[in-house]
Amino acid sequence: MPSRDLSKLRILVTGASGGIGRELVKQLAKSGARVCFTARRADRIHALASNLESAGIPTHQIAYAVGDIIDSDVRRRLTSTCQDQFGGLDVLINNAGVGAVGPFADADPERLRRLFEVNVFAPIELVRCTLPLLRKGKTPAIVNVGSVLAHFAVPNKSEYCATKFALRGFTDSLRAEMKREGIDVISVHPNTTSSEFFDRLVEKKGKVAENPIQMPADVAARNILAAVSRGRAETVLSITGKLSVFTARLAPSIMRSIVRRFG
Ligand SMILES: NC(=O)c1ccc[n+]([C@@H]2O[C@H](COP(=O)([O-])OP(=O)(O)OC[C@H]3O[C@@H](n4cnc5c(N)ncnc54)[C@H](OP(=O)(O)O)[C@@H]3O)[C@@H](O)[C@H]2O)c1
Repeated sequence: MPSRDLSKLRILVTGASGGIGRELVKQLAKSGARVCFTARRADRIHALASNLESAGIPTHQIAYAVGDIIDSDVRRRLTSTCQDQFGGLDVLINNAGVGAVGPFADADPERLRRLFEVNVFAPIELVRCTLPLLRKGKTPAIVNVGSVLAHFAVPNKSEYCATKFALRGFTDSLRAEMKREGIDVISVHPNTTSSEFFDRLVEKKGKVAENPIQMPADVAARNILAAVSRGRAETVLSITGKLSVFTARLAPSIMRSIVRRFG
């Protein structure tokens, strides 16, 4: 696939108030790309915009909208912001996501519903909403941020694993459909990353197993952008992530015993 010069493109990033999303926005804006970004925390989004401006990024290079990505009005507003301020859209990065920790049997249905709303329905519907712009875009791409837990599942994160498996399935199917339209559909899969993710869980019941190996969010963002530039269909971001996914694919029974033993 041809390589993509992100610095010349118009890019929409969700989940930009912290973690990986904020780093994606900073790196893209610094490279010269025009970036539209969003999340719910208005103070964070405004602070990001003013930090970019203080760093010398011209105001015409950035746009933003604040809101809950599960709200169809917010998704429509984002799409029209890209059209009105940038004249269109080339790359959509669906990064916003939430997790929950605890046994399935102790959870109410709302936990499952909330995770599917944010991690599955919202990104998929944002694809639907932005597709007319992407069809007219330059080297267009749809990028869905998954997880290593889209490849193998662990206990006490059943709803989260289910959402990331679902998003990966959607992404694989859409990739084949979009091929003839010349739109790349890309999956990127972080392993544990230093961010606020585990402080902002929808619900936490019991202990959260700490992974001592964490990728800094700026490194995760850099790796994601490298994968998008190269147009790679699917990328697992870290070495430990690659090892786990490889084991899960080639030796699923070994992976099942590791998961049973260590969670
Ligand atoms: N951190 C990890 O270990 C890890 C591992 C694998 C995959 N991932 C994936 O990587 C992505 C980024 O996560 P992160 O680590 O950067 O986590 P994070 O620091 O918690 O950032 C999540 C972002 O999503 C936004 N968000 C959450 N719910 C939203 C909603 N309803 N509407 C709009 N925005 C919403 C948050 O903003 P507001 O709260 O301001 O709305 C925030 O900007 C997620 O898809 C996550 O599943 C993370």
